[in-house]
Amino acid sequence: MGAFKETVDGMKIILVVGARPNFMKIAPILEAIELHNEKGRRPKMDPILVHTGQHYDHTMSDSFFEDLGLPRPDINLEVGSGSHAEQTGKVMMAFEPILQRERPDLVLVVGDVNSTLACTLTAKKLNIAVAHVEAGLRSGDMTMPEEINRKATDAIADFLFTTDRIADAHLVKEGIPNNRIFFEGNVMIDTLVKHRERSKQSTILETLGLRNGQGLHPYAVLTLHRPSNVDEPGTLSRICEALQEISLRLPVIFPCHPRTRARLDQFGLGDCFDGDSSRMRLISPLGYLDFLQLNSQASVILTDSGGIQEEATILGIPCLTLRENTERPITVTQGTNRLVGNKKETILKGVEWAMGQAGGTPQRPEKWDGRAAERIVERLAQIDRMNSAKFSREDSADWAPRNAAVLSRPPFQPSDLLSSRTPR
Ligand code: UD1
Repeated sequence: MGAFKETVDGMKIILVVGARPNFMKIAPILEAIELHNEKGRRPKMDPILVHTGQHYDHTMSDSFFEDLGLPRPDINLEVGSGSHAEQTGKVMMAFEPILQRERPDLVLVVGDVNSTLACTLTAKKLNIAVAHVEAGLRSGDMTMPEEINRKATDAIADFLFTTDRIADAHLVKEGIPNNRIFFEGNVMIDTLVKHRERSKQSTILETLGLRNGQGLHPYAVLTLHRPSNVDEPGTLSRICEALQEISLRLPVIFPCHPRTRARLDQFGLGDCFDGDSSRMRLISPLGYLDFLQLNSQASVILTDSGGIQEEATILGIPCLTLRENTERPITVTQGTNRLVGNKKETILKGVEWAMGQAGGTPQRPEKWDGRAAERIVERLAQIDRMNSAKFSREDSADWAPRNAAVLSRPPFQPSDLLSSRTPR
């Protein structure tokens, strides 16, 4: 980044999305870039949206583009499903020629999915700077594929944007210099803040019979897709037992991830949701607005997702995380989240706790204020301006950029000066 500034004005950024939890993180960043350009701020930014195609079903991908008003991806790599190695490898192979053709100044990745790591590796091997948004989250659980993706991405990315100070501390502990870490807040919450009002127009509660002339009927929301919960028949069956018991007290609404649905069928557990359909309701994955509305009125949310722990905190809804650990501890210390693992007894105890919670005013962690994307974009612009200034100096001896990518290669490589960037 910055290396092009002598010949070309502007900053070409490839933004990567791959899987469902990426869409709500990229949407506000794209909007902030648009705003930055509209206001005539420098450098002008030229975003390219790349979808790796890790998630491809309408309910897992397209419906989010519609709900969030995301533009159609400029490029879709269409890699689809596969083993971890296969999926990561396919993304890398498909992404490399895109980078060679587009020669961006920066690749921006979010979250911790396989696409995040694959695109980071590919870009860094071509000496292209990478910004990682939602850096520094750590569960300490190396059996989670996401933990591997997080650690590997953060080890080589240049600009690490964090959601809280605990994440900053993890990065520092791992030896990342302070000048690569930027605590700017939570972009997922930007999206929640922006769409909360609009989500109230969703009719999902009426469609599911949870709200009618008599008012709102209490219910629980469930999401479950982590391999540690759904890939082993004994574990999934015990979770189902707990859910059946909960459903005697509260209907359980379960927008079901495709991998979980496949496992339920494979393990012969589908029946568990086929009894009284009003008490244990397995439904297709919901779009962003319907899901936000469903969550915001729930009595309790049971989940093994990462982002939902954060959303529940802002919504002030008690959240039971069916895991032994979380990479988002701030949702426990400052939010509504409790770790209950995947044993029947602890899940049921958690529900007891949740039902006893009176809806107080939810706490809002620092910089979870709806403006994180704006700060990230302005920070990137500032870094770019700094590097451009350094590049234009005659005397480069005292040149000390914050940008590790620029540091890692000699300034003014012939390839930089000769490169012609493809206009879009
Ligand atoms: C991925 C992320 C996880 C994130 C989750 C959100 C990794 C390692 N995991 O997990 O962090 O919380 O997305 O959903 O990147 N499938 C479909 N249609 C789709 C997508 C997936 O049917 O559109 C099925 C396929 O059978 C696929 C399986 O779901 O094999 C798993 O999909 P995959 O993207 O590998 O992982 P997720 O479990 O979705």
